[in-house]
Amino acid sequence: MATQAPRAASGHHAQAAPAIEFSEVRKQYGGKNVVDGLWFDVRPGECFGLLGPNGAGKTTTLKMLLGITSPDSGTIRLVGEPVPSRARFARQRVGVVPQFDNLDPDFTVRENLLVFGRYFGLTGARMTALVPSLLEFARLESKADARVGELSGGMKRRLTLARALVNDPDVLVMDEPTTGLDPQARHLIWERLRSLLTRGKTILLTTHFMEEAERLCDRLCVIEEGRKLVEGRPHDLIASVIGSDVIEIYGPDPHALAAELEPLVERIEVSGETIFCYADDPQPVHARVKGRADVRYLHRPANLEDVFLRLTGREMVD
Ligand SMILES: Nc1ncnc2c1ncn2[C@@H]1O[C@H](COP(=O)(O)OP(=O)(O)OP(=O)(O)O)[C@@H](O)[C@H]1O
Ligand SMILES: [Mg+2]
Repeated sequence: MATQAPRAASGHHAQAAPAIEFSEVRKQYGGKNVVDGLWFDVRPGECFGLLGPNGAGKTTTLKMLLGITSPDSGTIRLVGEPVPSRARFARQRVGVVPQFDNLDPDFTVRENLLVFGRYFGLTGARMTALVPSLLEFARLESKADARVGELSGGMKRRLTLARALVNDPDVLVMDEPTTGLDPQARHLIWERLRSLLTRGKTILLTTHFMEEAERLCDRLCVIEEGRKLVEGRPHDLIASVIGSDVIEIYGPDPHALAAELEPLVERIEVSGETIFCYADDPQPVHARVKGRADVRYLHRPANLEDVFLRLTGREMVD
């Protein structure tokens, strides 16, 4: 995007402090701990990911950060401002992508951007200059005058992403930014977000796409039931939690085959019909399964999804 407004209040002093501080934050709903002593910092210019299964407390965390929901206890700062007391001031420098789009369906794409600009006190002339670059960001140039109610789900998502940039924010808070996007649009958004990071923006995002987290995040944390399970750089977490290599094996009687392979690997897991072998040296497993007509296998590098499933379990819990 080609907006070149000066970055407000980002002198040396502000650069040194974390862009986001979350410390010992707790929140209960109906007597249940939804966020339970969570703490993390996001440094200026960093992309930080918040990962966790459905109901882990990600959206609640972001809502508290933005001052939409109050914590029961704990300390929160956003661009240096205490939240919720000064959330309104902090929000001037923040762009938000909520989990569920809240665009006005009766307004056109262009009008949605203009209304949002007015909300931030931007002049008509400024917005007239800005709108084309926002439309280009979202690849919605040809839809500028379409009513939002007529857009596809993915187009609405792209508009919500563009709208978050109206105030040229220093910090972007995005709840599942690419959910509902097709693969082309997802790659486009990844490219756009990377270019925002190159320009020094700070991003806090949640995602269920492990590839997205692995590609974009400098650091991430995995939470479950409102508690932090791990935090670190994606590749450090993969190396420390999983190791280097994974072999997935599909065949009849997985439990019998797993028992046979177990002595050859660091760790083995059977999930449904699949055997997962975690091995720093995959050769012995190869030698054992190669040439068996009824067995298919896939040897691949360990990834963040392996980490996520190891920490939060392969089975769904509710
Ligand atoms: N307003 C509310 N009132 C009562 N319970 C709530 C409220 N908002 C969230 N919760 C509960 O808090 C827990 C965490 O919800 P949250 O939306 O933060 O999860 P999440 O990690 O964002 O999940 P998802 O990946 O499905 O978006 C859930 O058990 C949810 O039912
Ligand atoms: Mg959520």
